[in-house]
Amino acid sequence: MHAITIDDHFDAWRAAALDALAQGFAPESIDWRTAQAEPALFAASESRASSAAAQTADAPHIRISRELASLLKDAAHLRDERRWSFLYRVIWRWTQGDRSVASPADEDGARLYKMAKAVRRAQHDMIAYVRFRQRDASLGAPEYVAWYEPDHDVLAWGAEHFAARMGRSTWLIATPEGAAMFDGEHLQIERRRALAAEHAVDTHDAAETLWMTYYRSIFNPARLNETALEQHMPVRFWKGLPEGALIPQLVSAARGGARRVAQAPGVGALGGKAVQVEAHDAQPERDAPTSLDTCRRCDLWRNATQAVGGAGPSDARIMLLGEQPGDQEDLKGEPFVGPAGQLLDDAMRRAGLPREQVYLTNAVKHFKWEPRGKRRLHKTPAQQEVDACSYWLEQELRDVGAQVIVTLGATALAALFGRRATLSAHLGRVVPYGDKFVVATYHPSYALRQNDEAARERTVAAIVEALERARALSAR
Ligand code: URA
Repeated sequence: MHAITIDDHFDAWRAAALDALAQGFAPESIDWRTAQAEPALFAASESRASSAAAQTADAPHIRISRELASLLKDAAHLRDERRWSFLYRVIWRWTQGDRSVASPADEDGARLYKMAKAVRRAQHDMIAYVRFRQRDASLGAPEYVAWYEPDHDVLAWGAEHFAARMGRSTWLIATPEGAAMFDGEHLQIERRRALAAEHAVDTHDAAETLWMTYYRSIFNPARLNETALEQHMPVRFWKGLPEGALIPQLVSAARGGARRVAQAPGVGALGGKAVQVEAHDAQPERDAPTSLDTCRRCDLWRNATQAVGGAGPSDARIMLLGEQPGDQEDLKGEPFVGPAGQLLDDAMRRAGLPREQVYLTNAVKHFKWEPRGKRRLHKTPAQQEVDACSYWLEQELRDVGAQVIVTLGATALAALFGRRATLSAHLGRVVPYGDKFVVATYHPSYALRQNDEAARERTVAAIVEALERARALSAR
């Protein structure tokens, strides 16, 4: 066993990892340890960081994809003490020629993506929820202070963001693990726990009083949507925001009648006669909408960013039918561009079926979701919604010449054969559908949800087999 001790940051790990790779150390033969935080860690970590940089200069050079490099770098900031050994396993597999380690379809790849995503969310939160308070000028520098509790190790990243945007002002961000200080020119990161309490931010700020008055005045109880409020500004951040203390009061006043009172003067102030119109009445349902964007055949449009139509050549021989757009598809307006799409791309590659040659679409064209914290979690569409959306699927089946349809998952199968059709009864079979053929297989998300690597690979193999069968049928 080789014990490798590093400072707890990416550059130090990278230098040590390159070294270990050069010596051919297998992942299971390394015991990764991190140096204990010392009282004056800032100075110490500086010297370690530079020695790490020096090592990197002599270290062997390995080529990795830009995507993998960025995933490793982000994942390294996750608060998880097993991350260094895990990241080494990833890089080890890559250097052994196992490129699947960078795919979300791989067990390690999926974990890496998940780690990087959590860190990116923490970075976003830090920018959104740090609130600086201005200190009394007589106290001297720093002029602004903020207290923040990041979910992961993103203090240095966030501090650089603020340093680039706050000009020459001096400031300090204190966190439970340390602090970032900017003296107008230089940024310092100090990783010393005690500091947090020293800088507890209970300073009086004149601008803050103004901000609170402003916040109170723009808070419109008549338009309060508590779910949306908590989604946009998760409750765990309230304590760090000056306005956070006001929110519960304002919400409870809104519940207790202010909603109605505010509405009345608001409406009364308008000239002429004001008639409240529900969005649904303003854009009524049309049995035959002329475009997907104006579709109101079911209610899913209300919470979706946009409708996501099919994509691919209209003379494609094969149509792949999914369930509904996911979070990323909803934002981008294209089908299968998120993690399930990446797994599907891999499967298509393995089946020798280029994406450009198939038509990709979904049974339901709007993203159905429910909030979970700040995330939008996929919710399976109801059969009613699938039926309402069949209007668009039928058009696609008419307009696209595909002779073979591969249904991905149970919802896609039900969109063609009704909800009595079970996936287990159709898996791997070729079933006629008018003058076309349907090949049913699993949905790629089902493979992504499997934690057991062997089970996941079996699911992916079944998808690949269905795609190969569709390719053979379409070539007839
Ligand atoms: N899942 C689907 O069924 N379709 C998409 O477009 C993305 C994820």
